[in-house]
Amino acid sequence: MMVLLLVLSLTVVAVAIGLLVHFLASGETVMEYYHIIFKISDLQISSNSGQNSMYQFKELREMSENLVDEIFIDSALRKHYIKNHVVRLTPEEAGVKVDLIVVFQFPSTEQRAIRERKVYSILNQKTRNPRALPIHVSSVQLKAMSSSAGKLTIQACCGKRVAPFILNRIMSGDIAAKAAWPWQASLQHNGMHVCGASLISHTWLVTAAHCFKNDANPRSWTVSFGTTINPPLMKRNVKRIIVHERYNFPEQADDIAVVQFSPRVTFTDDIRRVCLPEASESFQPNSTVYITGFGALFYGGNTLNYLQEARLKIISDDVCKQPHVYGNQIKIGMFCAGYLEGIYDACKGDSGGPLVAKDLNDTWYLIGIVSWGTNCGQKNSPGVYTNVTYYREWIASKMGL
Ligand code: ARG
Repeated sequence: MMVLLLVLSLTVVAVAIGLLVHFLASGETVMEYYHIIFKISDLQISSNSGQNSMYQFKELREMSENLVDEIFIDSALRKHYIKNHVVRLTPEEAGVKVDLIVVFQFPSTEQRAIRERKVYSILNQKTRNPRALPIHVSSVQLKAMSSSAGKLTIQACCGKRVAPFILNRIMSGDIAAKAAWPWQASLQHNGMHVCGASLISHTWLVTAAHCFKNDANPRSWTVSFGTTINPPLMKRNVKRIIVHERYNFPEQADDIAVVQFSPRVTFTDDIRRVCLPEASESFQPNSTVYITGFGALFYGGNTLNYLQEARLKIISDDVCKQPHVYGNQIKIGMFCAGYLEGIYDACKGDSGGPLVAKDLNDTWYLIGIVSWGTNCGQKNSPGVYTNVTYYREWIASKMGL
C-alpha cells in the first residue's frame, strides 16, 4: 500500500513537472529580423525640385511599409508578424530600390530554417501580384539578420519608440512613461537644467535660441538624456552651439539653435532620434500633437525631476493672430498650439523642448520647439512654438546633412 502511494505521488509530481516544462518552453519566443529588398518599377519620381521629390519619397516609404504590413497580416504568419520599417530608398534607373527590415516573433521551439522558408515563400507569392505598388518580381530578396544587427538597425531609425502608449497627464500634464520620448534631452548650464532639446542624430540636438541669451559658451553646458534629470541615463559635454543668425533677444523671431555634443550617443530603446519633417510638409490646424519637458507645472514653479507630457492641438494662425490672442506678435516661423481655454501648456524650463506628432505608421516627427507664451496655461494665451518645417533647410545646412 505504501509503495503504491509513493509511486502514485511520484507520478503526479513527474507529470506536473513535465507539464510545467512544456508550458514554459512553449511560452518562450525569439525576435527575428529579416532584411527585404525590392525594386519598385516604372515610377515617375519627379526630381526637378528637391521639395517635390522628397515629398514623393515620404509617400513611397509609407506605401512600401503598408504593402509589407498587408502581405504578412494577410498570411499564415499573421500571429508572428510584428512590424516592418523602411531603412533606405535608393533611386535607380526607372524605379526605386527599397530596403526594409521586417520583425517577427516566433516560438523558440521551431527551426529557424523552416521559418525563413515560410517568410520567403509568402513574400515571393504576394509580391507577384501586389495591389498597390508595381514591384519588380525578380528584384525581391530576403536575408535573415542576426538579432543584434536587426535591433541596431531598427534603433537607428528616427521617430520610433518601444514604449506602450500610456497617456497620463508640463502644465497640467502627466509623468511620461520610460522610453516614451527617447529624443528628449535636458540642456544644463553649470549642472542646472535650463532648457529642453531634441535629439536628431548621434551628435546633434535642436533647441531654442533664447536658451543661450545669457551664455552661449559651449564649455558651460552639458546635456543629459533619460526621463529623469537625476539620475540621468547618460551625460555629454556640449561641443558647439549654433544660434540662428537672425535671432535677436528680446525679440522672439528665429528662436532656434542646434547644439553638437560629444562623444556621440549609441541609440538604444531609451535614447533615440526623432525624425525631422520634410521642408514641404504642413500640419493641419486642430491636429493632435504632444509636448514634453521638465519645466514648471505652474507659472513661477520649479523645474521637475520627472519628464512630463501633455497632449495639445495645433491652433491656426487665423485664430492665434486675433487681437485678443497674440495679434501681430505671431511672426513667420512661429505657430501656436494648445487651447484658448488654457490649462494645458508648456511653461518655464520647457523651452527648447519638442512638440511632436506621429504619422499613420507611428513614426514621430519634430514639428515645433517650445519658444514663448504669456504666463502659462492662461486663457487666450496658448504656447508659441518655432516652426521646424520652416527652418528645415537651416538645420540641415548647420549639421552638414
Ligand atoms: N520661455 C520659456 C522657457 O524658457 C517657455 C515658454 C513657454 N511658455 C508657454 N506658456 N508656453 O522655458
